[in-house]
Amino acid sequence: MSEKAELHFNGNVYELPIVTGTENEKAIDISKLRAQSGLITLDYGFKNTGSTSSAITFLDGEKGILRYRGYSIEELAENSNFLETSYLIIYGELPTKQEFDQFVKDITMHTMVHEEVKNILDGFPSKAHPMGVLSSLIGALTAFYPNALDPNRSADEVNISIIRILAKMPTIAAWTFKNEIGHPVNYPDNSLDYCSNFLKMMFSVPSDKYEPDPVISNALNKLLILHADHEQNCSTSTVRVVGSSHASLYSSVSAGISALWGPLHGGANQAVIEMLEAIKNDGGDTKKWMAKAKDKDDPFRLMGFGHRVYKNFDPRAKIIKKAADDVLAKLGVNDPILEIAKGLEEVALNDEYFIERKLYPNVDFYSGIIYRALGIPTQMFTVMFAMGRLPGWIAQWKEMRENNEPIGRPRQVYVGENHRAFVDIKNR
Ligand code: ACO
Repeated sequence: MSEKAELHFNGNVYELPIVTGTENEKAIDISKLRAQSGLITLDYGFKNTGSTSSAITFLDGEKGILRYRGYSIEELAENSNFLETSYLIIYGELPTKQEFDQFVKDITMHTMVHEEVKNILDGFPSKAHPMGVLSSLIGALTAFYPNALDPNRSADEVNISIIRILAKMPTIAAWTFKNEIGHPVNYPDNSLDYCSNFLKMMFSVPSDKYEPDPVISNALNKLLILHADHEQNCSTSTVRVVGSSHASLYSSVSAGISALWGPLHGGANQAVIEMLEAIKNDGGDTKKWMAKAKDKDDPFRLMGFGHRVYKNFDPRAKIIKKAADDVLAKLGVNDPILEIAKGLEEVALNDEYFIERKLYPNVDFYSGIIYRALGIPTQMFTVMFAMGRLPGWIAQWKEMRENNEPIGRPRQVYVGENHRAFVDIKNR
């Protein structure tokens, strides 16, 4: 017999089906609740609301588990590379050698962006934050590929949009940085792998041909894998909701980039470094800053701590902390910021306030430190996150379209004025 939950209200009993996921997660299906009872559910910030069923990413916040398509994040970070993981996330299976070679070839063929994109880039003031430029230029791709405007055209058209956006993202991302520092842009070098090509476009200048260091490319691969998907987070939900109106992949991802930018989400990696620098410049007194984080009258929060779903530890933070140690040692970087981060983590992990609220370092607490060691400027940290999250956004958008999900349109409880008569401006 299938399980049901009962809701008792006003003398009536409403039976609500229970949906069980493949990892035995249970949910009450309330999709018919309003039609049956006139009631809606209220859940600020969707803390307790499943918006879809998805076969892409599984995470268990209590146990600190994260898997893409069933493969653990630890194994993927150790053994895979970003494009292979992207294929897995988007198409559901690890590619065969032949599938992978074709995928890499397709992506490599599409790394150039239309020359007129440079005109749009030139219209931005230099010093513009790269995230705003990235979101605009990804949205602008619709102007160059009008066939992408209708995501219902054909599976082949959708697939070419997927290849294009994956291929052009590093080019556009590197160009947002060049715009910020006022340098000429570099074109892609298709003899290089995905990450090395990105690094070269970022750091090569006409007077000094940058040779990507394999240590840096490998670390970047790992960081991008760690960020590749994270089920229904703020930016991914944004991508799905925007895409649910049948907006194009480019427009949906552009909206996702904007959602990622905020400091409570992807923007936290930039905010962490700025916080650690402020602590260092203030004399390095971590206890003083901890007290500020705990003071309810002080808006300051310990950036890089806490997570909506991880209430034990963030498995990505564990991998990244070790990677930070390895990369800094290999590159011979001695960063005082890392010592402040470690000190702060130790104080927080032993503090009653943080223990009680289950606040642990999240992925962004250490990612900024590695990015710094790799030479990536602070303003670009969230762009790096966007590059990593791209396959997740694509896969979630594709899944939502293939499942033919209805338009996302939450309800509300209205708490404003009741009807009142209009008052002429002379009498107000
Ligand atoms: N520093 C101090 N106190 C915190 C912090 C923090 N970083 N995070 C949460 N708290 C406290 C809250 O004040 C609240 O305390 P209270 O119960 O006494 O009122 C309690 O912990 C619960 O916090 P909420 O804000 O209700 O938790 P929520 O799930 O809504 O927020 C979030 C999660 C946004 C990540 C939050 O922990 C935060 O702001 N962290 C700092 C920003 C950050 O690192 N964001 C990156 C997240 S990871 C990512 O997006 C990749």
